[in-house]
Amino acid sequence: MRLTLSEFAKLARQGERLPMVTCYDYSSALIAERAGLRLILVGDSLGQVMLGHPNTLGVTLDDMVSHTAAVARGAPSALIIADLPFLTYTTPEQAVHSAKRLLQEGGAQAVKLEGGAPVIDAVKRLVDLGVPAMGHLGFTPQSLHQIGVRVQGRSNMAAEQLLRDAQALADAGAFAIVLELVPALLARAITERIGVPTIGIGAGAGCTGQVQVWHDLLGITDQTFRHAGRFGEVGSAIERGLRAYATAVRDGSFPTAANASVIDPAIVESALSNLERS
Ligand code: KIV
Repeated sequence: MRLTLSEFAKLARQGERLPMVTCYDYSSALIAERAGLRLILVGDSLGQVMLGHPNTLGVTLDDMVSHTAAVARGAPSALIIADLPFLTYTTPEQAVHSAKRLLQEGGAQAVKLEGGAPVIDAVKRLVDLGVPAMGHLGFTPQSLHQIGVRVQGRSNMAAEQLLRDAQALADAGAFAIVLELVPALLARAITERIGVPTIGIGAGAGCTGQVQVWHDLLGITDQTFRHAGRFGEVGSAIERGLRAYATAVRDGSFPTAANASVIDPAIVESALSNLERS
C-alpha cells in the first residue's frame, strides 16, 4: 500500500526522522522499494544525473512525466513527489495544468515547487484542488543564474526572509518543505516554528527528514558534495562489472555453454544442406 499523505504527517508528528531519496527510473525504484524507502522524489536533478544537462533548467515536463511514471511502476508503496520543472508553474493555472500531467500520466501523488512568495498562489490553488504540494526553499536550483550555488539565509535579512517564506508556504497548505543549503541552526528554527515537516539537504540534522540525490548517495557519479552522504560505491562496482564482462568476451570465457540454448545438430545440418540445394 502506498504511503498516504496523512500517514506521512502522522510519522512526522510522532517525531520519526524521515528518509527521502530521489529516484528516476523503474529498476532503481524496485530497489528503493525493496530497501523500504517510502518517500521518493522524482527530482529535476534528473537533468544532470540522467540526461547529462549542466543544470535542471533543460528538464521538460515530458521528461518529468516519463521518469515519474517509470518510478511509480517500480515503487508501489512509496509516496511519490515529482518536481514541477523550470517555468512550468509561473501562474496557478499553469501549475494546475503541469501538476495534472504529473499526477494523471506520471502517477505521482504530489508535486514540488521551488521558491517562496512567487509560488504561494500556485501552491494555494493546487492544494484547493486536492493536489498535495511540497515547497522548496534555500538554494533553489531552478534560480541558479540569479542566486548562484551557495548556502542561503546567512544574513539577518535573508534568514528572516526564509522564515517568512517557509511560514507562507505552510499557511498556503504545503504539506512539507525541502530546505536546501540552509544553515543548520536556521533550518532547525524553521522546522520548530512552521508546523509542517521539513526535509533537509545540506541543512543539518534539525529537519524532520533528509533527502539525498540517488547518484550522490550511492557513489554513482564522481562528484562529491559536502552536503552529500555517501552510502555506497555503486559507480565503481558497475565499472568493475563492465570491465570483467568486456575481458570475458575478449578472452572467450563468456558466453559458456551454460549461457546458450541447445539444438539437435541434425536440425542445423539439414537446414544447411537444404539451403545449399535451393
Ligand atoms: O531535484 C532534486 O533532486 C531536488 C532535491 C535536491 C531536493 O530538488
